[in-house]
Amino acid sequence: MGGFPGVTGLTVTLILYATGLLRMTGEPSTWVRENSEGQLVATYIECNRDEWSVYVEDEHGTNQQLGTWTQKVHHTSHPEKPLYNMTDAFAITGYGLTYATYETPEGGEGTFVKIWDEKEWQWARPDAMEVYLTETGRDQWSVYLEDGGLITIQIDYHTKEVTVTHSDYSAQYAITGAEGYRSDCNALKYCLPVMGM
Ligand SMILES: *[C@@H]1O[C@H](CO)[C@@H](O)[C@H](O)[C@H]1NC(C)=O
Repeated sequence: MGGFPGVTGLTVTLILYATGLLRMTGEPSTWVRENSEGQLVATYIECNRDEWSVYVEDEHGTNQQLGTWTQKVHHTSHPEKPLYNMTDAFAITGYGLTYATYETPEGGEGTFVKIWDEKEWQWARPDAMEVYLTETGRDQWSVYLEDGGLITIQIDYHTKEVTVTHSDYSAQYAITGAEGYRSDCNALKYCLPVMGM
């Protein structure tokens, strides 16, 4: 058994390894490698993908294979000598997330659904009225929502937790499912939804 949950070579946009990461930048077919301080160390052009891997070329014309199934990055011609062992990989990140479900300790289920083409989300709670939330921001890991300034919510796809913060309490719930778009999908016409988790 290989691979990472919810990720294939066709959908991956972010790869973590012990001393850095590889991610798509939002520019078509462009990947970058960053060290653990977040400094850019290399740029790659994506040449191809299949279910198992993304194939990229670096600035020197060297071909590398990002093998999401084998969980290794290696020179295409040297699969036996991995450059990096992947520790995690993601298709959806905070930039692409459109849907999440979570579970409360009592066993109830809540859902967040982004309204198409709006910066608005519908929040269905297990034991309260449905409300609409405003999206206030996104980053690599999270979507940030608020309800008229009373409640702020962070849906964190990295820690797989939803944090609900009210003026006098804060609660965390485990994310149980997610959907979104590949996080390089700025031009929505090219975007196919991806199932997460
Ligand atoms: C990757 O993991 C293998 C063991 O599975 C190890 O032998 C190898 O040194 C590791 N490579 C890197 C670049 O960390």
